[in-house]
Amino acid sequence: MCGIVGFVGRKQAAPILLAGLEHLEYRGYDSAGVAVIDNGSLDVYKTKGRLQILSDMIGGGKILPGTIGIGHTRWATHGKPSDDNSHPHKSSSGRFAIVHNGIIENYGPLKAELEKKGVAFASETDTEVVAQLLDAYYDGDTFSTLVKVIETIEGSFALGILNRDNPHEIYAVRRSSPLIVGLSEDGNFIASDIPAVLPFTRTIYHLNDNEIVRLTEDTVEIFDTARRPIVREKEKVDWDVSAAEKGGYPHFMIKEIMEQPEALSKTIAPRITHDGSITLDGVQLTKEQLAALTHIHIVACGSAYHVGVVGKYVIEELTRIPVTADLASEFRYQNPIVDAHTLVIIISQSGETADTLAALREAKQRGATVLSIVNVVGSSIANESDNVLYTWAGPEISVATTKAYSTQLAMIYLIALYIAGQTGKISKEAFSSLLTKISALPEQVASILKLAPQLEQLAQRYAYLEHAYFLGRNLDYAVAMEASLKLKEISYIHSEAYAAGELKHGTISLIEEGTFVVALACCERLIPKTLSNIKEVKARGAEVLLVTVENCQLADEQADEVDHMIRIPQTNELLMPSLEVIPCQLLGYYIAKARDCDIDKPRNLAKSVTVE
Ligand code: AGP
Repeated sequence: MCGIVGFVGRKQAAPILLAGLEHLEYRGYDSAGVAVIDNGSLDVYKTKGRLQILSDMIGGGKILPGTIGIGHTRWATHGKPSDDNSHPHKSSSGRFAIVHNGIIENYGPLKAELEKKGVAFASETDTEVVAQLLDAYYDGDTFSTLVKVIETIEGSFALGILNRDNPHEIYAVRRSSPLIVGLSEDGNFIASDIPAVLPFTRTIYHLNDNEIVRLTEDTVEIFDTARRPIVREKEKVDWDVSAAEKGGYPHFMIKEIMEQPEALSKTIAPRITHDGSITLDGVQLTKEQLAALTHIHIVACGSAYHVGVVGKYVIEELTRIPVTADLASEFRYQNPIVDAHTLVIIISQSGETADTLAALREAKQRGATVLSIVNVVGSSIANESDNVLYTWAGPEISVATTKAYSTQLAMIYLIALYIAGQTGKISKEAFSSLLTKISALPEQVASILKLAPQLEQLAQRYAYLEHAYFLGRNLDYAVAMEASLKLKEISYIHSEAYAAGELKHGTISLIEEGTFVVALACCERLIPKTLSNIKEVKARGAEVLLVTVENCQLADEQADEVDHMIRIPQTNELLMPSLEVIPCQLLGYYIAKARDCDIDKPRNLAKSVTVE
């Protein structure tokens, strides 16, 4: 996820672009840049690092004349954060400059074709392909050229385009990435999101996919790709900037919970080829290497570790390779049994967690091959791994992870299925069936998010708890760990996750009248067992919330044991963690909200724990 802005009007553009980008840094902040046209010259200023570095470089924009420009704040997906990979990107002719938010999924073959024709690329990005295609297709008319380009590229994009030959107009177009237009007395804007234009105007247009907009200082024209004008109703925005940065949600956490379908889709789709196989970009493990694996360690901290626990069950089930899920802070000191036939999967949202980075180095030192699942391109863990798979969840601002956790789960499923396929451990039919179910996860998650009002209502009942217990078996237990952490880290309620079969070996002594217990029973073959554990806690006075699958048939007396029930859609048992975690995230969020906690920045916690 990146932030783009554009302005054309009667005022100096660069300071306005910087002000707009400042309100888009929540969309990405590893590099930034602006392009302005003045007196026939199209100039780009861009740098790795936060927006402030760019602002210092160009004197807060004041040293850049010109009343037309585009700007960008980046969240790297293709090409690490660097000066060259920053946006805007210029075409080789110098005629075009563009900014982009999204992923051009077919950039590889397009880039190869252009290079064959002698085009020299200045960056590793997918975006630069668009700039070079504009050059390649240019017929003197930016509109028709742009139509040809967007008919060629696949994937998601919001594009802002400057053409040096037409210094009074900005073109913009979107497909699956957000783009709005701002209208003011001083000029007109494009932006990825409303916060960028709020300091200047509250009058906006929302653009739809494949609509092309042409801005000048006095006009805004919207067309379809056949150049037919589109009439659009202006909208008045009544949000303040802070609310706008959260998309109108009260907290980044709930915004990021709601972004999960999109994050999952962006993480899964590019890894599934047209012929129904899996492509793990950035993984150089050969069939022989995979077949020779004798052990897999999944090493991480916190929620990422909980993904590792899911990974243990899923990868062992599909590949029959022994898997251990390790806490990074333990792994590095346990003299781990690791050798050349060990694959160590490192999971980290930030890519900077000190214990996880140290565990990675320990594993490499002992001869293991390291494959990392990371959300931040160019992070330390990514840079030190032999193989890296990026989750394309976009920046996760809330300290409590949700969309990064979900996209890490999706990566684990894809890795497990990929290894099973490469090593002949799964039939073609089973492979294809499971891959289809993985592709369906974004939609199923979206349907479960509709239960939010039900969870919000339930949360009012449990907001003043002192203790909570999350029970589950197998994969349900792995999710119980994450559900428990979500609740405790943002609501400060003491919470524990327990293997349902283990409770009676001690902890059940803590269950008394009114104790809140959440039972996760989504592994169909284990539901009867977990239901009997519910009887055990009910007999001691617990109040039970059951999260189970839609077609779970409960006998009357079983239904009587349950105080509240949340039913969710069913999928392959191995993928159920992605679905059953959603009501748990919502429950934790709404309980913390009811307690008026500082949800996005809980006490004592940091988004990235870079200390041991
Ligand atoms: C989860 O909500 C917490 N923010 C925390 O447990 C986090 O998952 C852990 O610190 C690991 O962070 P990482 O994924 O950036 O390595």
